[in-house]
Amino acid sequence: MKIIFSKPGLPETGVLALGVLEGRRLSPSASLLDKTLNGALKRAVKAGMFKGGKDQGLTLLAPGEGGLDRVFLFGLGKARNLDALAMQAIGGRIYAALAAKGHTEATVAVDTYKGGKMSAGDMAAELAFGARLRSYRFDKYRTKEKPENKPSLKNLKILCEGTAKARRAFAVKDKVAEGVFLTRDLVSEPANVLYPATLAQKAKALTKLGVEVQVLGETQMKKLGMGALLGVGQGSARESKLVVMQWNGAPKKSSKTPIAFVGKGVTFDTGGISLKPSGGMEDMKWDMGGAGVVIGLMKALAGRKAKVNVVGVVGLAENMPSSSAQRPGDIVTSMSGQTIEVLNTDAEGRLVLADALWYCKERFKPRLMVNLATLTGAIIVCLGGERAGLFSNNDKLAGRLFDAGEAVEEKLWRLPLDKVYDKMIDGEAADIKNISGGRGAGSITAAQFLQRFVGKTPWAHLDIAGVTWSKKDSALTPKGGTAFGVRLLNNMMAEHYEAEE
Ligand code: BES
Ligand code: MN
Ligand code: ZN
Repeated sequence: MKIIFSKPGLPETGVLALGVLEGRRLSPSASLLDKTLNGALKRAVKAGMFKGGKDQGLTLLAPGEGGLDRVFLFGLGKARNLDALAMQAIGGRIYAALAAKGHTEATVAVDTYKGGKMSAGDMAAELAFGARLRSYRFDKYRTKEKPENKPSLKNLKILCEGTAKARRAFAVKDKVAEGVFLTRDLVSEPANVLYPATLAQKAKALTKLGVEVQVLGETQMKKLGMGALLGVGQGSARESKLVVMQWNGAPKKSSKTPIAFVGKGVTFDTGGISLKPSGGMEDMKWDMGGAGVVIGLMKALAGRKAKVNVVGVVGLAENMPSSSAQRPGDIVTSMSGQTIEVLNTDAEGRLVLADALWYCKERFKPRLMVNLATLTGAIIVCLGGERAGLFSNNDKLAGRLFDAGEAVEEKLWRLPLDKVYDKMIDGEAADIKNISGGRGAGSITAAQFLQRFVGKTPWAHLDIAGVTWSKKDSALTPKGGTAFGVRLLNNMMAEHYEAEE
């Protein structure tokens, strides 16, 4: 879909989307059209339940004598609540309402209001961003899709004052959308197509944007002593990989060490010898969601040339049962030197991250490290699909992550780390065991496990098991892979770590 910004001036034909404020108050653009239609819009708005509420919409087909095929009235809610998020949601809803209707072109008018805080250009750019995010589809394998089921919208024209500003603001946001789309693609691909080597190739493609990408194979990882990560992949015919991505966008004189993002990339999680039940196991194709976010984030940051130095490290393995698979009770030695008793081969994400985190910390001495992982089913029990779990050894970092989540509506909730939970994973036959053995606090003990591999580095862990995949559409995200985390971390970078002190 092409998005074009253009000066105000209502078209006389085609498809037109116009706003209505809470209380059935037509926007200036809608009023303008209403006059040429002899009050038809006002009457239509009065006739039904549509009040201009922020998630309402009303469609009029071929109103009046002119050439308009469809007028879509979208609710704006209250003018004073029209912030960036609200405009994005409106853009998403307009897209959803128009895309499936067979039209190839549509025009949206963006107006400003007394009491509103944003400029017309910014409002238009946010609306465009929302429409773009909602327009994502993963349909490359649907060869028999009926044309009438395919979204038809090719051009979306947005009418606003300040088009130059809108274009500039949107260009940056569109780079973020490209990162989001890459992540959604990666989590959507099935595991026969996307496995460690092919996922590493996808990361390698970021070289084009100026990202330095290095791929380590099993031989190199063995030399580094990554027994924890390698144990997870040893039952698979697919070779495990570790990918290191570097984006150096900070001014040359910057003496600061980089910010690091680390992702769990289990390209399929059968559970291994501690095999999962078959029902729903197909979901485990997106057990590389953390890695997917890190790769998409690197694309977003490099795409918009973020003035910050970041590294992304993703640990890639496939967790399979086979005669060469790791067994329950096996003891592995991690790169850190700590030994781990693998009591459950299905608690594999923490094993992958143990070596990825330690490697990242040792090699880059990062200022801070944020890891993302579809780590525990328990976080879904705890927070459902509404928020991701946040764990951190640093209050300032936790606060910044929490705030960034609120700002982009990728929300987090902090859970505790504590000695008493840490004790639960003290090993019997080795230094650490990979499950507590008890029934409670599964997400917390998993986080405690990770903490044993981050030293004193300011660190946070986002458990995204509940938010990586969605079974229902929402304003900015069609059902399927969400890319939860990309916009959040992009926002945190922009707010706190670019062009800083
Ligand atoms: N990848 C799973 C966690 C998961 C579950 C992600 C559901 C997304 C949806 C993880 O590797 C796992 O299997 N965790 C176990 C840990 C347990 C064995 C301690 C779990 O949550 O059951
Ligand atoms: Mn598992
Ligand atoms: Zn897993």
